[in-house]
Amino acid sequence: MAIYVIEEKKLFQIVTAHTEYQIQADSYGVLRHLWYGEKTRCAMDYLLDYPDVGFSGNPYDVGTCRTYSLDTQPLEYACTGNGDYRIPALTVTQPDGSCSADLRYESHKVYSGKYAIPGLPAVYDDKGETLEIILRDRYSDLRVILRYGVLAELNIITRSAIIQNDGSITVRLEQVASFSLDIPSRGWEWIHFYGRHAMERVTERAPLIHGIQESSSTRGTSSHHQNPSMILCQKDCTETSGACFGAFLMYSGSFQTKIELDQLHQTRVVMGIHPELFSWALQPGESFYTPEAVLTYSDTGLETLSHRFHKVIREHVCRGKYQLAERPVLINNWEATYFDFDAEKIYNIAKEAATLGVDMLVLDDGWFGKRDSDDSGLGDWFVNENKLQGGLKQLVDRIRGLGMQFGIWIEPEMVSENSNLYQVHPDWIMQIPGRDPIRGRYQLLLDISRLDVQDYLYDCISKLLTTADITYIKWDMNRSICDWYSSLLPSQRQGELPHRYVLGLYALLERLVTDFPNVMIEGCSGGGGRFDAGMLYYCPQIWCSDDTDAYERTTIQYGTSYIYPISAVGSHVSAVPNHQTGRVTSFEARGITAMAGSFGYELNLGILNEDEKHAVTDQIHRFKTYGPLIHNGRYYRLSNPITDEIAAWSFVAEDASEALVQGMVFRTQPNALRHTLRLRGLDPKGLYQIDGTDHILTGSALLHGGVLLPKTWGDYYPFEIHLTKVSATDR
Ligand code: DGJ
Repeated sequence: MAIYVIEEKKLFQIVTAHTEYQIQADSYGVLRHLWYGEKTRCAMDYLLDYPDVGFSGNPYDVGTCRTYSLDTQPLEYACTGNGDYRIPALTVTQPDGSCSADLRYESHKVYSGKYAIPGLPAVYDDKGETLEIILRDRYSDLRVILRYGVLAELNIITRSAIIQNDGSITVRLEQVASFSLDIPSRGWEWIHFYGRHAMERVTERAPLIHGIQESSSTRGTSSHHQNPSMILCQKDCTETSGACFGAFLMYSGSFQTKIELDQLHQTRVVMGIHPELFSWALQPGESFYTPEAVLTYSDTGLETLSHRFHKVIREHVCRGKYQLAERPVLINNWEATYFDFDAEKIYNIAKEAATLGVDMLVLDDGWFGKRDSDDSGLGDWFVNENKLQGGLKQLVDRIRGLGMQFGIWIEPEMVSENSNLYQVHPDWIMQIPGRDPIRGRYQLLLDISRLDVQDYLYDCISKLLTTADITYIKWDMNRSICDWYSSLLPSQRQGELPHRYVLGLYALLERLVTDFPNVMIEGCSGGGGRFDAGMLYYCPQIWCSDDTDAYERTTIQYGTSYIYPISAVGSHVSAVPNHQTGRVTSFEARGITAMAGSFGYELNLGILNEDEKHAVTDQIHRFKTYGPLIHNGRYYRLSNPITDEIAAWSFVAEDASEALVQGMVFRTQPNALRHTLRLRGLDPKGLYQIDGTDHILTGSALLHGGVLLPKTWGDYYPFEIHLTKVSATDR
């Protein structure tokens, strides 16, 4: 049991293996946040203070008491318009046009099993527990149900809210976050992940300053530019020590993370759907479900936090046949051919790949409609027989005949003006009446909130999957969204479209994963523009970035690893000079970087020399050998590639019986000592043999002294060291 309720004190304690979360409804029914941190086994209300703070007002029902203010108390779900001037989680416009909600405790429920959310992705766990706290606006029939899902062994707490209109008149939700969290001042620093197309999830860490800081997306997707995840950590927090909180949102649309350091140096975090362009008319009897946020707290540094997030995503977010299975090694033709291919060219790439040991060919953009460049064809999801003479089935059958699986690229949410679909259904796009739509990569967006659009796409995709033996889809999405207008929604409901778009996307994906359980969907949005846990509920891996440069990838994959597991990271070896940066790195450096993910190739294997072909076979062999360790083992960030001279990471088996250490030394200097690298996660008392040598070292030596990296030559010099535990020492 993880949820304890002390009825007489209205105290709720959520206790996991290493953390504790406490909330209390006070004598006024105000739900206050008491604690999220180490296990205390003590009611933490003794820490509450009641200063008389000028210009912080007092609720009417506290009488003449000047020291009780919602503006200074730690609140569990903050609302606009009740005297708390900090960032809100909930903003409601009431039927009379006023904007206020004053939530008070009404009742609660505890039940076994982790709750689910209709129409939205959520952590699943039959063995989990749920706490629901029902709050009611003091002056209306608006109820808010705060839900807490608890995965005690994993130290994971999820949060989401249901807003319920039990009154008789529609109210308007202007902002409805998944959670707010008030935590005491401890000199927090904020880690977030910013970027741009082809340079996603760059790690940035900075002290909080007084006032509000934010990371968000209003692009309709979670975006390349910020990620729906964050960490707050103490100044002295490192990979292996110190306190940190982390949260990620299971949502693929516009989001907002706001953090406020207030006048009393208290910190509030609010995370959820971005309120800009959002509003929701909540009719009498209706409920609104927020997306879910997933939280953890670690007092043993960032590494523990990442390990918990990796585990919960792999074991309780990802689903389906490929959830934990080793992924096929694939060859993708995009950087090999772009739009310039025919059936023979694709078949020849597959033939070469098959001889080298690749499992699957993925036919990327350009196989359908009139798609010879990126300005046409989207929406026409039927094969272009001029290009693929003999049709898709014939090509798939030939490639299956080589012993390979077949995967295919689609970009269902889009339409090109130069397409049959647009000629027939110009009304299906998102466009504000009387205004020209904004083009992005020449293309327009389908209004996927519409059922008829979802049905059309479902029919096209299911036809594709049933007419040929296709076992993988790469689901791309290559622009940001604007022109928010749906011709099916009345004017006063247009603000619902950004969220309805995401609900439509999830509904379509859910239908497909249910009806085609053997097909793996890989997410993609111009690389990693929709790399979030919402998508991972449907797609166990996501193409991490359109930047395939091995050096740049070390930074991108480093940032990604704070939250997301390695198996989720689609990563390929591509050609040099690299198509995004012109940089030349060795075949081995590219292989090693790509192996820290779900591995594949993205180049014309036919033009490789014999040495490179041997390297491909060798890399595939190594990935197949180490794949289970890479995906199931614990991942350790051994350096920071943004600030250090090397990129280094490792995978260690849960029982510490083996480890794989990989990385690259960025530049070679003459007359320099070789780098040493201290390892982590090993059994200090174990004896480890370094593969290919008769060198046996204690775990303790490797943890504290480290391994000596090879002598380097040139730039981006790769290394890979595999260690096997041969026995334990009693020394
Ligand atoms: C963007 C993707 O990230 C690429 O890998 C490729 O599929 C192109 N789109 C195709 O248009």
